[in-house]
Amino acid sequence: MICSVFSDFKMKNAEKKLLVLLLLKAFTVLCVYLYYDNMLAVGTTFKSRAVTAHDRLTHYQPFTESADQGSANEVQSKCSNFRSPSSDMTSQTWIPLTDRNNTYIYSAYYVKSGTEYKVVIIGAHRGWEHGEQFVCQLWYLNDRTRIIGSMVEEPSSVSKLPEGHGLRYSARLFTCPLSSDKVPSYVSIVEKSCNTPKSLLPVQVNNKPEVSNRKFTMCLSPLHSKFSDAHQIIEYIELNVILGADKFVIYNYSMAENVAEVLKYYSRKGIVEVHEWKPPIVDEIHYFGQVMVLNDCLYRNKNKSEYIVCTDLDEFIIPHSDQTNNWSDMVEQVNDTGDVYLFRNTFFGTNWNNEDTGTHNSLIDKYKLRTLRTFYHQKKIYGAAIRSKYIARTATVSQVMIHEVRGGGLKTGVVPIDNAYLHHYRHLDSDEENVPKVLDKTIRNKFEKELINNVQKVWTELKR
Ligand SMILES: *[C@@H]1O[C@H](CO)[C@@H](O)[C@H](O)[C@H]1NC(C)=O
Ligand SMILES: *[C@@H]1O[C@H](CO)[C@@H](O)[C@H](O)[C@H]1NC(C)=O
Ligand SMILES: *[C@@H]1O[C@H](CO)[C@@H](O)[C@H](O)[C@H]1NC(C)=O
Ligand SMILES: *[C@@H]1O[C@H](CO)[C@@H](O)[C@H](O)[C@H]1NC(C)=O
Ligand SMILES: *[C@@H]1O[C@H](CO)[C@@H](O)[C@H](O)[C@H]1NC(C)=O
Repeated sequence: MICSVFSDFKMKNAEKKLLVLLLLKAFTVLCVYLYYDNMLAVGTTFKSRAVTAHDRLTHYQPFTESADQGSANEVQSKCSNFRSPSSDMTSQTWIPLTDRNNTYIYSAYYVKSGTEYKVVIIGAHRGWEHGEQFVCQLWYLNDRTRIIGSMVEEPSSVSKLPEGHGLRYSARLFTCPLSSDKVPSYVSIVEKSCNTPKSLLPVQVNNKPEVSNRKFTMCLSPLHSKFSDAHQIIEYIELNVILGADKFVIYNYSMAENVAEVLKYYSRKGIVEVHEWKPPIVDEIHYFGQVMVLNDCLYRNKNKSEYIVCTDLDEFIIPHSDQTNNWSDMVEQVNDTGDVYLFRNTFFGTNWNNEDTGTHNSLIDKYKLRTLRTFYHQKKIYGAAIRSKYIARTATVSQVMIHEVRGGGLKTGVVPIDNAYLHHYRHLDSDEENVPKVLDKTIRNKFEKELINNVQKVWTELKR
C-alpha cells in the first residue's frame, strides 16, 4: 500500500519484463525495509520527544490518503498514519492550533536574513509554560489549491513578546528554520511531531525587491469600537504624508461606514491598505492585539519599505529644527545609519485654552484640525521607552514593541528634542490642568497652508 505509488511508476517506465520483475523484487525489499525504518523512526523517536535540528526529515515516504476519505490529496512526509489536511483549512483564519485552544496564528512570512532562510509566524499564546515547544510543518506543494507535495518538520523557536500587560494571551513569534532557499507554500504549527495540523497558513514572500521602493510606512494599531472619526483619520493621513509617509497599513477590528468610505478612497489612491483583524481572543489580549499587529506590519513591509513608523492616530513625530520639514531630512540630520529612532512623548491638551494664540483660519474648525488649533503642551517631555514611539529599519529589526524596540546589535538612538519629538494630542483631566505649559506652534508654522489645502481637497473629492 505504502509503496503503490512507486511501483506503478516503475512498471510504466520498465521496458523488459525481466527487468520489471527484478525491479519489483528489489523494490519490495526496499519497501519492507523503509516500512520498518519508518515504524522505528516514528514509533520510537519522533513521537516521544520534540524534533531537534538534528532530526531534520530529509527522506520522504510516499503517502496516500485512505480511499474512504474520497480525496485526491497526497503529501509525502516522514510521518506514518498521517492524515493530509483538507484544502479548505487554507482559507480559514484564527483557528486554535491546539486541543486546549491556547494558541493562535495569524500570518507567516518567508524571510532571508544574511545567509539564513526562515519562516516567521505572528501568533498569540495563552499563559507561559517553561520551555514552550512547538514543531513547524512546512508544506512544499506543487499546487496551492490541492494538498499535493511534501511536508517537512522543523523545530520551532518561540519568542514571547513583552508588553502583554498581564492579560491571558500575549504575542508570540514562531521561527521555523529552512534548510534551503526553497519557499514553502504553507506552514502550520503543531505541539508534537506528526500531529495533524488544524490550519495551514499561506507563506507570504517578502524578499523582493532588493531595494525597497517605499521609505516610510505607517503601522497603526487596530481600529476598534466602530471607529467613526473621519476628521481625525484624514488629519492623521494628510499630516503624515507631508512628513514623508508613503503608505498606511491599517488593521480593521471595527469601523463605522464613514471611516470605511474614507479608507476606500485612500485605498484607491494606493496610500492605504486595510487588513481584516478579528482575533477571537480580543478580550484577553492587550489593546486588540496591538503587539501582534505591529509585528505583522514589520514583516509585511520588510523589503518593501526602508522604515516603519509606529504612532497612533493622536500622535505625530514632528521635526523641530529650523531646517527640517520632513522625516527624511530629520533622520539624515540625526544619524542616518541608525536602526531605531526613538521619539520622546509630550502631551498637548486638546481641551486647554488657546485663545491667546490669535485668530485662525476658519477651515481649521470646519475640518476639525486639532494639530492646528492646539498649541500648548506639558513642559514635561517623557524619557525614552516611556510613551515614546519610533521609526524602525525593517531590514535589521526582527521584533518590535509598542514604545520601543529591543534587539542585540541594533543601533538605537533617542532623538534629541531639538531635532524632533512626539506630539500627543488628547483631552487632559483637570488634575493635569495646572502643570507648567509650553507654547509650541511648530506645526502651524511649518505645515499649516499645505495641511489645510490637502485636507480640503480630500473632503471635496469625498463629497463628489
Ligand atoms: C476549542 O474550540 C472549539 C471551537 O473552535 C470548541 O469546539 C472546543 O470545544 C474548544 N475546546 C476547548 C478545550 O475549549
Ligand atoms: C471593517 O470591518 C467592518 C466590520 O467587520 C466591516 O463592516 C467593514 O466593511 C470593514 N471595513 C473595511 C474598509 O474593510
Ligand atoms: C531585501 O532582500 C535581500 C535578499 O533578497 C536582502 O539582502 C536585503 O537586505 C533585503 N532588504 C530589506 C530592506 O529588507
Ligand atoms: C524633505 O525636505 C527637503 C527640504 O525641505 C526636500 O528637499 C526633500 O525633497 C524632502 N523630502 C521628501 C521625501 O519629501
Ligand atoms: C552615526 O552613528 C554611528 C554609529 O553609532 C557613528 O559611527 C557615526 O559617527 C554617527 N554619525 C553621526 C553623523 O553622528
